[in-house]
Amino acid sequence: MSQPDGPSNTLDNLLTESRTFPPTAEFAAAANATSDSYDRAAADREGFWAEQADQLDWARKWDQVLDWSGAPFAKWFVGGELNVAHNCVDRHVEAGNGDRVAIHWEGEPGDSRTITYAELQREVSRTANALASLGVGAGDRVAIYLPMLPEAVFSMLACARLGALHSVVFGGFSAEALRARINDAEAKVVITCDGQYRRGKAAPLKANVDEAVQHTPSVEHVLVVKRTATEVAWNERDKWWHDVVEPQSDQHTPEAFDSEHPLFILYTSGTTGSPKGILHTSGGYLTQAAYTHRTVFDLKPGSDVYWCTADIGWVTGHTYIVYGPLANGATQVIYEGTPNSPHEGRHWEIVQKYGVTLYYTAPTTIRTFMKWGAEIPAQYDLSTLRVLGSVGEPINPEAWMWYRENIGGGKTPIVDTWWQTETGAIMISPLPGVTATKPGSAQVPLPGISAKVVDETGEDVGPGGGGLLVLDKPWPSMLRGIWGDDQRFKDTYWSKFADLGYYFAGDGAKYDDDGDIWLLGRVDDVMNVSGHRISTTEVESALVSHPTVAEAAVVGASDPTTGQGIVAFVILRGNAADEAGGDAALKALRDHVSHEIGPIAKPRQIMVVQELPKTRSGKIMRRLLRDVAENREVGDVSTLADSSVMDLISKGIRKSS
Ligand code: WT7
Repeated sequence: MSQPDGPSNTLDNLLTESRTFPPTAEFAAAANATSDSYDRAAADREGFWAEQADQLDWARKWDQVLDWSGAPFAKWFVGGELNVAHNCVDRHVEAGNGDRVAIHWEGEPGDSRTITYAELQREVSRTANALASLGVGAGDRVAIYLPMLPEAVFSMLACARLGALHSVVFGGFSAEALRARINDAEAKVVITCDGQYRRGKAAPLKANVDEAVQHTPSVEHVLVVKRTATEVAWNERDKWWHDVVEPQSDQHTPEAFDSEHPLFILYTSGTTGSPKGILHTSGGYLTQAAYTHRTVFDLKPGSDVYWCTADIGWVTGHTYIVYGPLANGATQVIYEGTPNSPHEGRHWEIVQKYGVTLYYTAPTTIRTFMKWGAEIPAQYDLSTLRVLGSVGEPINPEAWMWYRENIGGGKTPIVDTWWQTETGAIMISPLPGVTATKPGSAQVPLPGISAKVVDETGEDVGPGGGGLLVLDKPWPSMLRGIWGDDQRFKDTYWSKFADLGYYFAGDGAKYDDDGDIWLLGRVDDVMNVSGHRISTTEVESALVSHPTVAEAAVVGASDPTTGQGIVAFVILRGNAADEAGGDAALKALRDHVSHEIGPIAKPRQIMVVQELPKTRSGKIMRRLLRDVAENREVGDVSTLADSSVMDLISKGIRKSS
């Protein structure tokens, strides 16, 4: 196991951070969260979660809160039945809130659309009828490859309504990555659009689907939303959204499904090449999504305007754009584009336009805003903001302070929320109105959640100690497995502390003297680039699939904006080595990775080397390569098969960036 992969050079700053920001009396008095919920949940965890589940509409009440007898396969709210889409849409209309805005959608070119809960119900019903007409039923899988359009939300909820599983694939992934995900889930239908707006330009999207579905035997239909009027090739199984969905009835009666009925699959990078299809189910997932959204963001439905800037292609978009906020009847902003289109104040213009009160983004975005300068947000009225959130990677105290000062007017609580695709919902976070916040620390497990920092033997390291983060008790929104691979599920998360039954998160962490938790980054071969998980092996496989590359090793090197940047060390093939070392050839290699995985996986830098540092058993020592990539003195080389290799590398590298 290597050292934590996080921005390690800021580690020392993190741990000497001692500022705290207690909540104001005014905020605390009106807060949804109360300090007694920690004790209440500790005394009766299952009772606590049952109370939260009671906030949802169940068609049949559960018989048992938790069945952990088949660990690590959990069952929550056993015997209960509900429809997730009914809970996110219909029940708000039935409660008389049909006129409340569910979504203020803002397109990148400046078009916008306001969708009330009543309209959302009609749109989701039409989409469900359309999918049913294409043969989609309970248990089927639907791949959704869309940018941030209202149709993405309609599609996800329509699947939930029908009991079909969605597998949302981020629009920035390549045709090849899409193909692999479609095939793993054996999706019947793919939903996409003609093109997507990115930084003011329309980029084709359907073309990737056309390429992917040439090798996806399960796909029967491709449903295409018209967004950019980009010209598209047309195949037999393609159908326009407006031809299939719009004529449908806007009435659809949802069916109740078992609490453990699968809701979605979402792929995430693991330590080996193939992505893992993380499986989430219905009742427990929705319970924790709604509870955490309500308490961590202090949501007051009807008055708050919430905005999460994530893409629905990631779990943050699933839980904190679709399921959590909509289950709570929130009014939210969904924005299609990039933060600098058409100008660097776009986010703040949107906050001002809609009076956003709760804003949730990633540290990499905050650091980008810092680079652009505080004078940009200063031009807008941000006084409506009252809670700010952060997710995706450790937030450095400087960025935290900048966020609070320049976006939060020096007064808003900041919630640094730690969780994962696998956990389904927030696990560790301050509670606004309760916790005195500390810049850079996610601090405390939420009520009803248990997390520990342990050593290699599973022993709690205690205040001031550092080690590995584990979740030692099951939680409602936990993953229920890896699609089609129970063994990998057990091996990846449950084998490290098998005797203790702990879930191993893959993150390094430390307690401070107060017992608050500080996350320190991944301890496995997974990089965190702009809050996105990318495996080193995946990028290495993409590199060696290029004809000029003989061998490749990839590391995540700390990066001031993206958290980590991808740095690749490649050995070129015999004659390629002479011609291919030039900048053009290295650019071609970077483009090749982008084509194989997606632009997010493009190496920041490629270095051509003659050798790679390996142990006697042939394992690449990424730790040493990281030293080179971060311009540090190279560490202990004694376990290398050939200790002179590092000298060779340090002297002989040809760099390209
Ligand atoms: C990994 C999970 C959860 C949604 C976004 C990413 C890192 C996430 C934090 C945080 C420190 C964090 C961890 C985790 N991470 N949030 N607040 N502080 N690290 O989801 O792609 O499943 O990645 O992101 O390393 O394991 P994901």
